[in-house]
Amino acid sequence: MRERNILLVTILVLVLIGVGITVASLVRPLPQAASDRAVLVDQLLRVFFGVATAVFLGVEGLLVFAAVRGRLVSTPAAIGNSSPALELLWLSVPAAIVLVLSVYSIRVLLLMEAPRSDPLRIEITASQYQWEFHYPESGVTTDELRLPAGRPAVLQFRSRDVIHSFWVPVFGGKVDALPDRVTSLALTPLRTGEYEAVCAEYCGPDHAGMIASVWVEDPVGFEQWLQSEGGD
Ligand code: CUA
Repeated sequence: MRERNILLVTILVLVLIGVGITVASLVRPLPQAASDRAVLVDQLLRVFFGVATAVFLGVEGLLVFAAVRGRLVSTPAAIGNSSPALELLWLSVPAAIVLVLSVYSIRVLLLMEAPRSDPLRIEITASQYQWEFHYPESGVTTDELRLPAGRPAVLQFRSRDVIHSFWVPVFGGKVDALPDRVTSLALTPLRTGEYEAVCAEYCGPDHAGMIASVWVEDPVGFEQWLQSEGGD
């Protein structure tokens, strides 16, 4: 009987892990990643989805099993009987899951915030209701963001008036533009294409129209554009 129960629990755990991995590989909570940050965030979300699904099905499954079979408490005398081994198990398993996910999250955070080597610096100024992009190395100022694919970039934000928030969903992560402080976002664009930057913090009546084009180009195309804009 005992061996059979251990076998059943083992099968249940393996099935749940399988369901978790399937969910983690199928679920796409974000648009297709176009930067190294977005790849990390996408993986993190999918792992959390997978683990949460496995835990949810495991807990609800045991609940249904107990309700239907009604055998977890076989006799009234069994009520109040404690099982140290069982208690240790249901304390240590969730603790281990939370610990592993915490370490993983911290690692992702450190990787996202790690300084990039030789980054292209771009100063971005927000105001009601537009974005202004300045390339200090070449002296170019534009109303659209262009980035070369594969080269790390550091975006530095300021605001002329109220709080705005810069968000390019395919890049992963948003960052506030504040009137009294410089904030920054480091990323390496990975995929060429045209994207959109929106303001993600309500900043006034025309907040919804505070949108800018974002282009990720191959390095040659980017240099040509910079020169056409009068850059050095
Ligand atoms: Cu700027 Cu909302």
